[in-house]
Formats: sequence, C-alpha cells, structure tokens
Amino acid sequence: MKTYALVLAAGKGTRMRTIMPKCAYPILKKPMIEYIVENIEKSNIDETVVVVGHKREVLQDILQDRVSYAYQEEQLGTGHAVLSAESILAHKEGITFILPGDMPLIDYVLINKILSAHQEMGNDLTVVSMMMDYPKSYGRIVRDEYNSILRIVEENDCNEYQKQIKEVNTGIYVVNNKILFNSLKKIKKNERKNEYYLTDIVELMHTDYKVNSFIVRHPHVTMGVNDLYGISIAEKYLRESINKNHMLSGVSIINPETVTIGDNVVIEEGVIIHPNTTITGRSVVHSGAQIGPNTEIHNSEVGSNTVVNHSLVYDSKIGEETTVGPFAHLRGHAVIGNRNRIGNFVEVKNSSTGDDTKAAHLSYIGDATVGHNVNFGCGSITVNYDGKLKHRTTIGDDVFIGCNVNLIAPISIGNEVFLAAGSTVTDDVPTGSFTIARNRQVNKSDYAKNYIKPHIDKTPGQ
Ligand code: UD1
Ligand code: CA
Repeated sequence: MKTYALVLAAGKGTRMRTIMPKCAYPILKKPMIEYIVENIEKSNIDETVVVVGHKREVLQDILQDRVSYAYQEEQLGTGHAVLSAESILAHKEGITFILPGDMPLIDYVLINKILSAHQEMGNDLTVVSMMMDYPKSYGRIVRDEYNSILRIVEENDCNEYQKQIKEVNTGIYVVNNKILFNSLKKIKKNERKNEYYLTDIVELMHTDYKVNSFIVRHPHVTMGVNDLYGISIAEKYLRESINKNHMLSGVSIINPETVTIGDNVVIEEGVIIHPNTTITGRSVVHSGAQIGPNTEIHNSEVGSNTVVNHSLVYDSKIGEETTVGPFAHLRGHAVIGNRNRIGNFVEVKNSSTGDDTKAAHLSYIGDATVGHNVNFGCGSITVNYDGKLKHRTTIGDDVFIGCNVNLIAPISIGNEVFLAAGSTVTDDVPTGSFTIARNRQVNKSDYAKNYIKPHIDKTPGQ
C-alpha cells in the first residue's frame, strides 16, 4: 500500500502579520516548509502533495518539483484544503499522512513511528495528539467514558469544561484515502469562522470506522507556529538541538545561547565557535577552524585551521590556515587561497586569490583574479567600476602592491611586479616591472611659511 503526505500550506497566516506567507517564513534562514518536506523525504512516505493557495508562487519557488501541488483557490479552512487534493489522491489506493505546513520541528523518525502505529493498530484514522500544560490555540481532544476519541473542538468553540482538556490536536492525521474523501464531503461549514474544519472528520468517522490516537511524547516537535512569537520558540528549540548535536560531535561552542547554526551546516570535529556567531545555509567548516566572535557565515566553506573573527562571509570559499578579520567582508563568490591574510576592513567580492596572499588592512578587491604571494599594501584597491560597467583586474604571482595604489580596471599585472605606493595604475604592467605612476615630488625650500599661521602663545596673563 502506498503512503502519501499531504501538507496544508495554503493559509494566509493572518496571525503572523507578515508579507511573506507563513509556511515560507524562514527559521534559521531556511523556509519553514523546507524543514517539513526534507523530513518527509527522509521518511517512509512515497509521494508528497502540498496544498498551496495564498501566494502560492512563493512556496512553489522554494519547493520547485520536489513535490506535487494541489491548489486551494479560496482559503475556506483545513477540511476544504484537504478536499482540494481530491483529484490527485481520492482515486489512489493507500493512506495519507496529513500535516500542517506550520509544523517545522516534525522529524522523520516520528513520522515513521506514527505510520507504523497506524498500520499495526489497523486504524482507518489515526489522530495524533499531545499533552500541553497550556493548550491555548490548539483543538481539544474530547473522549468518551471508554477513552475513545469522539471529536475535536477548536479553542473558540470550547465550553469551560472542554477548555480545561490538556490533550490537544497536533494537526497530524493518518487516514485511508477513500474513507477520507468520502467523509470530507459530509463536513458542514463552521458558521462562526465560515470554514470547513478538517477536525470534523473525527466525529464523522468514529462510529463506522476504527479511529484511534497516537500521543506524541515530546510535544515541542509537533508545535504549530501561528505568529512571530511562535517562530522565535521554534527557532530556540531548533538552535538548542543543532548546537547540542555539534557539541556532542566534538565542536566546541562557547556561550552557545548566542550561537546560531543552520541545520544544513556541516562542521567538522575540532572546530571552535566563539560567541555571537551565525553560520547558516549550505556552509561547511573544516577541522581546526575558529569562527567568531561576532561573525556571520552564510553558504560558505571555511578551510582547516582558518580563523575568521568579527567578519561577514557570504557565498564564498576560504582555504586552509588563512586568517580573516577583524572586520573583513567576503561576498559574491570570493575564493581565498591557503595561508592568506584578509585583515582589518578588507572587502573581497567576486575575486579569487592564490596561496600566501595578504591584504592586511583597508583594501577593496573586487572582480579580480589574484595570484600567489601577492601583498596588497594598506589602502590599495581595485577600481572595478567606471560608473556604468564592472571590469576585471588580473594580478600575477609574487606581486607587491604599495599602499594606496589604485588599479584601474580592466587591467592586467604580470608576475614579480612592484607597484610603488600611491600609484594610480591605468595600463597593463609586464612581468618583472617596477612601476611608479604618480607625480614627482617637489620640495620648495623656505616656502611653507606662506601657508602656516604664526604660532600665537595663549598662556594666561601674557
Ligand atoms: C489547526 C487545527 C487545530 C490544531 C492545530 C495544530 C483545524 C480546524 N484546527 O488549527 O485543531 O490543534 O491546527 O497546530 O484544523 N490551511 C490551508 N487552507 C486553509 C486553512 C489553513 O491550507 O483554508 C493550512 C495553513 O496554511 C496551515 C495549516 O493549514 O499551515 C493549519 O492552519 P491554521 O490556521 O494554522 O490552523 P490552527 O488554527 O493552528
Ligand atoms: Ca497552526
């Protein structure tokens, strides 16, 4: 029998008060829906359908063809959302694992456990519930005197007694496809909310079919995110569990409450991460590297024994035994070699450097291909933009660039070149050249007095 997942992600997410649709909202810089789909992909589920509606293009842009889509034109509730997948699922023999698109912490191990329980118990419908001390905003599970589930009542429809119930609906259901779509058609509109509630299938099915529950042990895993405060809680859980796993794998994290690591980041044993550091996206940090404090790394690779401190690194790659920072900025596919020094207030954009190259202070290296053992003097820059177009700079090996040199691109500098400090270099420089491109100094003797004001002694009393 085939197993399908149906993720409900068409809602507006009104309580979020954000322009971005809720299920696309990022947690640790990754869209909420991606966490869910990634775990479904790792589970025993065969095919995934995502119900989209409100701003569906945003979600489809994130998920592309990893899933198939059902379209819910008007957001008339969770029951209506499932019904919009009727043409895709109703005729398919099998079971469907329904879950809300605002449940980012669900993991594949739990998905598999729920699926096995459903099959082992021989259920037609498994309702997944959890115990909450403060059940606010969740639907309450109402049971009869034999402990069978009778119905689910939404918070706003609860009487005072039902409000005290601590067992709540996670929003996950496993259900036989045919029975699901037959029952859905019988759901009546909730007049107060003008919505069709998926929760009503419980009451519709419990007399004629086998309806059971699966109670999750760790309720935070199935928490629903409804607003930005919920985002922060999910983020906190996720951060703590990711950091813990890294620490148990030999990564030293100092003051971990201040360190944020995305869940796709790979960090090798022996790395030290200092406070106030964020490493996200598809980043890899190799052994012996030290990152932080106050550093942000996104979609980047850091080589072994490299140190990055007080710096920003986006979409870039840094070699081994290199130091970056303090206050360096690498971006736009910067590729830095081994044993480099990218120092104070140096920005590198869309450029590569060979091994043993140094830019220790106040440089801009943009759209450049730089060789091995190049020294950028303090304040030397590539002048890559002429106001209309960006141009490239090529620099060979063993080049010494004096302080405050401007390299006006497009330009090519050969190997073993020495560029004198203060030069504005506009033409290509051949290998072996010593180049000086600035006005010759003139000393006019005894002339400074024409410019310098005489010193007035202001000592009181004189
Ligand atoms: C829902 C459940 C509630 C449960 C809670 C768990 C119902 C009526 N209530 O409430 O019992 O305790 O989840 O978190 O089902 N969606 C659509 N189309 C719609 C409406 C919603 O696709 O027309 C999607 C949303 O994008 C969201 C999910 O369904 O991802 C859940 O909707 P939401 O409004 O958050 O439901 P809750 O009020 O949290
Ligand atoms: Ca919700």
